[in-house]
Amino acid sequence: MSSTQIIILGGTGDLSKRKLLPALLDLFARGMLPETFNIIGFARSDWTDGKYHDFVQDTISKYHSGHNHSEEILKEFCKHITYVQGSFDDLSAYERLQSAIDVFDTSHNTRSNRLFYLAVAPRFYEQIFRDVVGTGVGEEAADAWTHILVEKPFGSNFDSAKALDQQLATLYKEDQIFRIDHYLAKEAVQNILSFRFANNLLKAAWNNHTVESVHITMTETIDVGNRPGFYEGVGALRDVGQNHLLQLLALVAMREPTEFTPEKIRAERTRVLEALAPVEAGDVVRGQYEGYVASDDIPDDSQTETYFELKAEVATPEWSGVPFYIRSGKALDKAEVSISITLRDVASGMFETESCDSTGNEILLTVQPEQSMSITMNAKAPGLGFQLEQRTMSVACGCAEDEIKNSYEKVLYDAIVGDQTLFTTTEEVLAAWKFVTPIIEQWGNTPLQTYAKGSVGPANSIITTN
Ligand code: BG6
Repeated sequence: MSSTQIIILGGTGDLSKRKLLPALLDLFARGMLPETFNIIGFARSDWTDGKYHDFVQDTISKYHSGHNHSEEILKEFCKHITYVQGSFDDLSAYERLQSAIDVFDTSHNTRSNRLFYLAVAPRFYEQIFRDVVGTGVGEEAADAWTHILVEKPFGSNFDSAKALDQQLATLYKEDQIFRIDHYLAKEAVQNILSFRFANNLLKAAWNNHTVESVHITMTETIDVGNRPGFYEGVGALRDVGQNHLLQLLALVAMREPTEFTPEKIRAERTRVLEALAPVEAGDVVRGQYEGYVASDDIPDDSQTETYFELKAEVATPEWSGVPFYIRSGKALDKAEVSISITLRDVASGMFETESCDSTGNEILLTVQPEQSMSITMNAKAPGLGFQLEQRTMSVACGCAEDEIKNSYEKVLYDAIVGDQTLFTTTEEVLAAWKFVTPIIEQWGNTPLQTYAKGSVGPANSIITTN
């Protein structure tokens, strides 16, 4: 890997603390960062490099408490970190950034690649996209690339996402743009493809002849915490539905790509998102947990949903007629991310009698809290008679030493090596917004139910077990 500078715009923010700095340290400890690299934290506080190093060390002990890196590694890591003070609307800040980049390049006698990570609120995107190019700080050289990494939500509806995308396209080439959906980088999510396409057992059953329903669930016990300012006006559907959960759906429903390449995989995901049928009125639920409006940053009459359910359909020959139930919420009774696929009951034959009845199998892929896959099967109940009972076969998929726990490690590594497989294309983002925007526009017709914190969510649910 050639010399690279990683510039984190928003280097003191929540994302940097919780995910990026721990992920970069882990990559460093694994020896997976380029031999010559520099991390530049860019933020508003008037700090020196030394003060930022203290911040990084403090952050690691607070947010990466389970790590087993030695003090020496952490100190060594900090030697690769510099700090630049500035705000995104101040052009002179980009001059300071340029100087820091040049100082590193000159002292290492190199022209580094530049990776800009926008760990900032989406309202700054437009300006940063423009200024990184306009000030020349993002300029590529013949043998040195510039990559720009952008977090979701990318836009707030179809039109704004399209406008943002058009702006990006005038400033950067598609192979420079890395639209992050960190769910795609989770090990268990990547595993969906291996389970589906490397096992004939599952491959044969994976369509509407055999599958009765799919449930995609992402529940969290945490509430909006210290992010009310971000969350208010965004809501659960934009925060995790338009991106993470629709990407899970795409991986469940996509056709097998003809080759294991970024282009083919992303094209198949896109095909699914473009085939999503409009959601029927009555097939959505939204809720808000009690106490959400207690924060000073949230108006008392806030209509922002912290919970949603919807029933989607993928209008392709292999999936039409199969309901995909999607559900997510904050401040619920348990934290879980899973995909449950219920197969149809055999429905006829020797086991469909009153005294001996089979049940449709369930394939359960758990992404969090642990990574596992299980299949519930019908088996003979022990004893003299012949009754059926359900047995579950489970495979634990994580727990190896090399397991990547923080998906941002993969996000950062792939962005450095230039692999865009796990990043979304403009077509995917727009197809997802095309599906979600009419739902948001009709939110007013869907009553906002309140639910108690720590409960299963709103009382009136559309989720059925099959
Ligand atoms: C983020 C959302 O994208 O994903 C958060 O903005 C959510 O609201 C988070 O809590 C969940 O990610 P993970 O990796 O902790 O499941």
